[in-house]
Amino acid sequence: MRIATGIQKLDEAMGGGLPERASILLVGVPGAGKTTFCNQFIYEGLKNGEGAIHITLNASPEEIINSMKSFGWDVNGKPLKFIDAYSWQMGVEEGKEVVNPANLTNFTIAVTKALTEMRNQNVKRVVMDSLSTMFLFVPKDLCLRFISMLSARLKGAGMTILIAVEEGMHTPDVVTALNSLTDGTINFIMENDIRLLKINRMRETRNLPITLKFKISESGIEVMP
Ligand SMILES: Nc1ncnc2c1ncn2[C@@H]1O[C@H](COP(=O)(O)OP(=O)(O)OP(=O)(O)O)[C@@H](O)[C@H]1O
Ligand SMILES: [Mg+2]
Repeated sequence: MRIATGIQKLDEAMGGGLPERASILLVGVPGAGKTTFCNQFIYEGLKNGEGAIHITLNASPEEIINSMKSFGWDVNGKPLKFIDAYSWQMGVEEGKEVVNPANLTNFTIAVTKALTEMRNQNVKRVVMDSLSTMFLFVPKDLCLRFISMLSARLKGAGMTILIAVEEGMHTPDVVTALNSLTDGTINFIMENDIRLLKINRMRETRNLPITLKFKISESGIEVMP
């Protein structure tokens, strides 16, 4: 079984989509398209009656919902669970369920709680946007250990997890560790006016490397001929 991203030509190139039970890094500079890819992936699942979990460190759930709406992805009433590690950075609001990104014990508890809450929702997709923000709050060894645990836990529960990472923000040892802890990497490249999506490593996937030219239109990421 493969997990369709909702980007048709990418799914065709990967034999139906991403591998099941996999953790995948999305690497690119700011504006390269990582967040759009995450949200499109989530919506593809919701559209097909799956539940999904969004771990956010860069934007509030409200901002994400609005941004998705602007692409025509209406999540209203759909089983989308947020783990909000962003709002804490803004100052905790009364009555809001927020996670302190510096407190990995609480973070782990929030993940466990989300999994329990969503256990009957057929969840196959989780995104974390972005892991780089966690590195601002937590020493790198702890961050890497957390990702290793999180990815094992979610894969064990049958999920495919996308982890967005800012290119250029991490030292080479961290990049190497992240690659060794995950099952694949999708690179988002911007060269002059051209956007490219490049896959060099992906578990259980033939025909690598895959390089596709894409644009971000009003309906999201679209691969160009
Ligand atoms: N609602 C929208 N409609 C059309 N294009 C959009 C929309 N939102 C974002 N974009 C385009 O998508 C591009 C990529 O944005 P995205 O947020 O996915 O990048 P990112 O890799 O997550 O960046 P960052 O590292 O800053 O979070 C933006 O530069 C913008 O051109
Ligand atoms: Mg982003």
